[in-house]
Amino acid sequence: MPDAAQPAADEKVRSESPLHVAIIMDGNGRWAAARGLPRAEGHRRGVEALRRVVRAANELGILHLTIFSFSSENWSRPASEIGDLFGLLRRFIRNDLATLHRDGVRVRVIGEREGLEPDICALLGEAEELTRANTRLNLVVAFNYGSRQEIARAAQRLAREAAQGQRDPASIDADTLGRYLDAPDIPDPDLIIRTSGEQRLSNFLMWQAAYSELVFVPMHWPDFDKAALESAIAEYSTRERRFGGLVAKTGS
Ligand code: IPE
Ligand code: IPE
Ligand code: MG
Repeated sequence: MPDAAQPAADEKVRSESPLHVAIIMDGNGRWAAARGLPRAEGHRRGVEALRRVVRAANELGILHLTIFSFSSENWSRPASEIGDLFGLLRRFIRNDLATLHRDGVRVRVIGEREGLEPDICALLGEAEELTRANTRLNLVVAFNYGSRQEIARAAQRLAREAAQGQRDPASIDADTLGRYLDAPDIPDPDLIIRTSGEQRLSNFLMWQAAYSELVFVPMHWPDFDKAALESAIAEYSTRERRFGGLVAKTGS
């Protein structure tokens, strides 16, 4: 249960902040290269940025923060870099889980769990289990995640139910498929931020991003901080969200 000092959920709903912010944390390698450092150092500094941003998101009253941590396509990187990234995830969970829990953060993980090393799966499961009852901020970690793969998994489950006669194919609409994605209870992101100047989704939340506002910032992820998050939110608040209609509205 959140303590009395924390903003109540309805207070957050009335705030100007987007309720769900999703971040493509990009540019660790270029940050390091620009300083003559190994890419691993960029990733290590990226974890520090993540810590800052989770804290800031909590302070700013964001309810859901999704972070792109490792993509289905990142397996094409050299094994040593994959090892560095997995090592950092292990360390992040081991070192930060207690703090996240204390701060009322619920950890959720989206992406393909199968094929991951058993100790990584165990750590992810432990983080989800320990923080299950927390309500202040959902931290959704997209790990071994790809949007096409997520949609394909959902389609497969629906097809299996149809083949077993448990579902009429004609009943499958967009809402149905949405309920078979990895975190169906988390609302679509209001704001998606990508750092490092790249302007693409790279297979991140493509279904859920249908009406998200996209903000691309030139800075590399290790430099990202609360001020940068606030500035992206300020940009978001200037956007007029129409959802295909004529009446402007904000929030999701
Ligand atoms: C983001 O930084 C971290 C991951 C993709 C895991 P990059 O490693 O993509 O850094 P750049 O894009 O090469 O600079
Ligand atoms: C997206 O960044 C994946 C993560 C941030 C985890 P990439 O660096 O892998 O994306 P591309 O290859 O530049 O599109
Ligand atoms: Mg990159």
